[in-house]
Amino acid sequence: MSFKIQPAAPARPNRCQLFGPGSRPAIFEKMASSAADVINLDLEDSVAPSDKDSARANVIEAIGDVDWGTKTLSVRINGLDSPYWYKDVVDLLEHSGERLDQIMIPKVGNAADVYAVDALVTSIEAAKGRNKKIAFEVIIESAAGIAHVEEIAASSPRLEAMSLGAADFAASMGMQTTGIGGTQANYYMHHEGANYWSDPWHWAQSAIVAACRTHGVLPVDGPFGDFSDDEGFRAQARRSATLGMVGKWAIHPKQIAIANEVFTPSEEAVSEAREILAAMEEAKAKGEGATVYKGRLVDIASIKQAEVIVRQSEMIAG
Ligand code: COA
Ligand code: MG
Repeated sequence: MSFKIQPAAPARPNRCQLFGPGSRPAIFEKMASSAADVINLDLEDSVAPSDKDSARANVIEAIGDVDWGTKTLSVRINGLDSPYWYKDVVDLLEHSGERLDQIMIPKVGNAADVYAVDALVTSIEAAKGRNKKIAFEVIIESAAGIAHVEEIAASSPRLEAMSLGAADFAASMGMQTTGIGGTQANYYMHHEGANYWSDPWHWAQSAIVAACRTHGVLPVDGPFGDFSDDEGFRAQARRSATLGMVGKWAIHPKQIAIANEVFTPSEEAVSEAREILAAMEEAKAKGEGATVYKGRLVDIASIKQAEVIVRQSEMIAG
């Protein structure tokens, strides 16, 4: 398929996805007035089994009652290995208004998981005459999910975004850590008396980015559990942005501003990208495919790199 043009991911800001438990309706208004681009009302792992029914009812009511502005509004349903997910989908699609944009499917292990939810959603949309097609986002958070990441990215035209869920991923992989994302103290190399920390999430993130970019899906970094550690969050977010991810979850309002800052190309980066484009225009006028910018090579590939930054900045600015 390499003669085909790589499909573009949805052109909407997804710098921060703010999560809140569906069993805690007191924070819904605060979530709506936050600076997050995406809101994820959770029915899954932040909701106790005894609260599943009431959380579902809270979320359905809030979809219609709360003013969510221009945010992307998403609900995380329960996993396909649970007794709850079918009712999440049926009740949401039958009883919530058209303000709902997206359903997040957790613990996706292969393309058939997405197909199953797609079949149910498609049927309810037709039965209820819903006008707006519900989009999907998925979480890669198991060994099976990362092993089948490419078929999952290609699984449905509804699929808009894919996140890495560090905690469940670590558990499924048998990783020796209880930390949710970020630096892991035992993942280091040792050289001449000094320790050098490395990034245990790097491979999974890169696999997700490659699968997403191949199929026009937004790659997103999931939660960072230690919400007291701003600099740890910032470092994780910067690594994710450098690898091609477009945003990160916030599990506490403190994390929203940092995510927005990191995933918005800086003024400095945008003006440098524009200068590179200008330098290449000049080179092109002289019939050259490569030139020197600030003492370094820039060529036709540099145009594409610079365009990534300029396009992202313009899309976020609206
Ligand atoms: N969204 C919006 N506002 C939130 C919020 C959220 N997710 N979490 C907390 N707040 C509000 C609180 O209501 C409080 O508001 P106030 O100043 O008006 O009283 C303020 O932010 C500070 O909250 P704080 O006391 O620091 O946190 P907490 O103890 O109330 O809650 C958590 C901490 C982690 C339990 C809570 O943030 C949470 O539930 N996060 C999401 C968990 C989740 O959805 N997980 C699933 C995805 S991994
Ligand atoms: Mg999870």
